[in-house]
Amino acid sequence: MFPINRPRRLRQNGQLRRMVRETIVTTNDLIYPLFAVPGSSVAKEVVSMPGVYQLSIDKIVDEAKEVYDLGIPAIILFGIPEDKDTEATGAWHDHGIVQQAATAVKKAIPDLVVIVDTCLCEYTSHGHCGYLEVGDLTGRVLNDPTLELLKKTAVSQAKAGADIIAPSGMMDGFVQAIREGLDEAGFNHIPILSYAAKYASAYYGPFRDAADSAPQFGDRRTYQMDPGNAREALKEVDLDIAEGADMLMVKPALSYMDIIWRVKEMTDLPVAAYNVSGEYSMVKAAALKGWIDEKKVTLETLTSFKRAGADLILTYHAKDAARWLQES
Ligand code: PBG
Ligand code: ZN
Repeated sequence: MFPINRPRRLRQNGQLRRMVRETIVTTNDLIYPLFAVPGSSVAKEVVSMPGVYQLSIDKIVDEAKEVYDLGIPAIILFGIPEDKDTEATGAWHDHGIVQQAATAVKKAIPDLVVIVDTCLCEYTSHGHCGYLEVGDLTGRVLNDPTLELLKKTAVSQAKAGADIIAPSGMMDGFVQAIREGLDEAGFNHIPILSYAAKYASAYYGPFRDAADSAPQFGDRRTYQMDPGNAREALKEVDLDIAEGADMLMVKPALSYMDIIWRVKEMTDLPVAAYNVSGEYSMVKAAALKGWIDEKKVTLETLTSFKRAGADLILTYHAKDAARWLQES
């Protein structure tokens, strides 16, 4: 007996494969992260993330122009302040580093969508994502007082010109608090992209070098999610939808594709996947050794995020990917 069904018929050549391809990643899907530091003419490469730089605001503007010219619709900004304290003053100050960066980018390239990460870990002296009890050495962030700081932070970012607010601290009720803050301050048109299902992941290691945001003691497991949990992610998503989130994020992406899929199944809101620093660094390291084909591996991975249900992908590969997609 020979097979009647021969799926290979539709794989015979590139034209046929192109016709029946179900998922295509495009430049429209990409969001590029940028790290703003004080100073001018600063471009300091992050050792664990080849090709990613801490940039002063003049350089951020240059980079944002390049991103825009490549057809990438959006950036997400992170800030590394001059000084850190227990109140995360640098996060909500009207002239904080990320506020300055947002204003400068919007002035130079009004069309580029500027997303700002709303969290406190880059700005606190201890590196946790909110207030700690005096003397706490475990990192058990105080939830409700932290909401007040997040509210202030989001409003200052919107005032500075941010188009989208992206809270990433995994505090209970953070979407509601930020929505209230924005609405009261006259920013009811600003969408919230919630880091709804964010796991306590070792894949954030290189980012913490880039953002200088590693906790000085303890870890983030009392606020970020346990990697073993999937149903809990759906609960987090439900809550964020009820609190007024406009878009939802799953993070990390590569080892959490099942979560991306399940979130996509339960909501019609746009779903974003964060292809995080450790995922990027692994590809870069292997590519530098000549062990994998960087372009093919990257485009395959990005396509897989979309196939899993991501509408948007935050990725340090965005500029390279945009160039590669232009070639093909
Ligand atoms: C801040 C934040 C982190 C990332 C994005 N926002 C780090 C963390 O939670 O420690 C990680 C991004 C990456 O690894 O690329 N809360
Ligand atoms: Zn944080």
